[in-house]
Amino acid sequence: MSTQLDIEHAAQLIRDGKVVAFPTETVYGLGANAMNAMAVARIFELKERPSFDPLIVHIADFEQIRALTNFDDDRVQLLADRFWPGPLTIILPKSERIPDIVTSGLETVGIRMPANPVARELIRRSGCPVAAPSANKFGQLSPTLARHVAKQLPDVDYILDGGQAEVGIESTIIALNHRGFEILRHGVITREELEKVVPYYPLPDEEKTNIVSPGMLKSHYSPEKPIYIWDSGFSMAFDRSRVGLLSFKGDDTDGFAKVELLSTDGDLKACAVNLFAAIHRLEEADVDFILAQPVPEQGIGLAVMDKLRKAAYRYQ
Ligand code: TXA
Ligand code: MG
Repeated sequence: MSTQLDIEHAAQLIRDGKVVAFPTETVYGLGANAMNAMAVARIFELKERPSFDPLIVHIADFEQIRALTNFDDDRVQLLADRFWPGPLTIILPKSERIPDIVTSGLETVGIRMPANPVARELIRRSGCPVAAPSANKFGQLSPTLARHVAKQLPDVDYILDGGQAEVGIESTIIALNHRGFEILRHGVITREELEKVVPYYPLPDEEKTNIVSPGMLKSHYSPEKPIYIWDSGFSMAFDRSRVGLLSFKGDDTDGFAKVELLSTDGDLKACAVNLFAAIHRLEEADVDFILAQPVPEQGIGLAVMDKLRKAAYRYQ
């Protein structure tokens, strides 16, 4: 676990234009000074991320948002009061001071204030907003432990170890429009919670203009072993002794080579917390492929199934 000295060392590296992996409450991030285009370019290089996929900018203090965005919208303050620090990213009109590489040339920028105390201390000490995608190679499994980062990104300048990410899946991403908000990526903050603050209003197709999310690809979060969703559409015959099972609440687990239980009682929050670490372990086990039992698509279950479908997409 990181000490204050480690955090200060990492902050110094960020000030020097280096790239540092750090814990957040969602997943580990790969951070650099958001105002330093060269440092941000190194993030794309290390991750092998296509340049059309924009980064989220992390702040430690609400006031930082003013230099990063052009907005005059009371709803942002309301959302921040309720959900920040925490796993919510808000897409806002960007100020011209943010280098284009951060936003892949979009007119908008995603902003998030993480809750993890190591992340907050790092951003505060760096003295700058920190651009950070998840600290995995592009398209691969997201990291919820420092060792997941070390495995995929051995060339990163430094890894701050903050133990296990306690939320376990990426932040909910929302965009605001003239009537309300829409969800660009599901996470543990659900539509129902957000609706208590701002109305839910997905723009009808004919009104959609610049709200694009280039990173929302169909294939993502893929483990190195094939993963399939074990629903009624799965028809392949298989030998359970060669298969790893990602189990939602422990039903029908007999005979599998390895079983990773996401929750014992069907708690969807526990599923989100354990999801990526469980898939990492199954990927490392002696199995030919992974089967994932579907979870109910309500509340946080929407985010969990979204990750599972993207992980399974390339193996269909
Ligand atoms: O929880 C999280 O959000 C983690 C931690 C590290 O904060 N970060 C994360 O970043 O998940 P990343 O880069 O793996 O995913 C960010 C997503 C991408 O799919 C990207 O396309 C989308 O956010 N995004 C970023 N800026 C955007 C923008 N201006 N408009 C639309 N989508 C945007
Ligand atoms: Mg990611």
